[in-house]
Amino acid sequence: MEKYYVEVKAYPTIGILLLGGVSDNKKRLPRHTTAGIAYTGLDDDIYVKTDLYLSNQKSGIINGKEVSPDSPRSPFVVIDKYRHEILMRHPEYSEVSFVSENKNVISGSSDAGAAAIGECIQSIFEYNINIFNFENDLQQISESAGRSMFGGFTINHANGKESLTDEILGPEDFEDFVIVACKFSEDRKPSDTIHSNIINHEKYAERVKNSELRAKELEKMADSGDIKGIFEAGEKDTQEYHSMLREVGVSIITDEMQRLIEKVEELKAEFWNAYIVTGGTNVFVAVERKNMEKMKNAAMEFKCTPVYLKVAGKPDVISKN
Ligand code: MEV
Repeated sequence: MEKYYVEVKAYPTIGILLLGGVSDNKKRLPRHTTAGIAYTGLDDDIYVKTDLYLSNQKSGIINGKEVSPDSPRSPFVVIDKYRHEILMRHPEYSEVSFVSENKNVISGSSDAGAAAIGECIQSIFEYNINIFNFENDLQQISESAGRSMFGGFTINHANGKESLTDEILGPEDFEDFVIVACKFSEDRKPSDTIHSNIINHEKYAERVKNSELRAKELEKMADSGDIKGIFEAGEKDTQEYHSMLREVGVSIITDEMQRLIEKVEELKAEFWNAYIVTGGTNVFVAVERKNMEKMKNAAMEFKCTPVYLKVAGKPDVISKN
């Protein structure tokens, strides 16, 4: 590793009010208001780890592979914007480089990757960045970067032209809950398949219109500590989102995932739960901590791997010199 560097861990995310539709392929501003949580494993063992360092040769490595600076959504989109300011302070170097690695991430890694790069830029150079613009910069890497930047439960107010994330609750507010992530082995579809198709649904405009009102309801639930209500809103939104997606020809929920969902619904008679499906082949089932094993045992009867998750916080700076 070159001399001057910072190492950051950031946490991946799951939608609660799911994001479908972005402004365009460059800015990637969400077309409507959304909400989500950052997550990690019970031992904090799920994250994206990123090192940003100064060098004399430009290099960007994600999960062991060199990324081209020109590829869309490349972290260099953001690094290059701040490169000059950074290097002015360290004239002995000519480039800003990075290495990023996913550790056990189930889905939502690009949010964590974007937030990790952002935290590196902010922390190593103590550069006074306008946080509102900075979130929009990071959205070019991942449309829902704000969820990971702030951690906990966040609401991103957006309309395809402007976008701003509000921190609503911290991870401590979710202590009594565990999310059992049931990972299925099928490959996921790229999120852009979702974004480019859902906007063609006849009810999309209504979904956009309702999103701000739904976010207000979530805020009220957060104010009154109604965590179950928040997850239940996620389940309701999952149902709307995936039925709209199916109707425009994008099917994320496989038959086996659907069978698990039916089991989860049956289990509601025994213990409280709420499920969420985002863009990947995973069913995230929120339960009270005391029922996590029951849920895991039920999931083991399906062709999936259950993993316990908890709500995570903001990115952490691990080391810096
Ligand atoms: C990706 O931009 C958004 C989805 O993961 C849904 C969500 O988490 O809100 C597909």
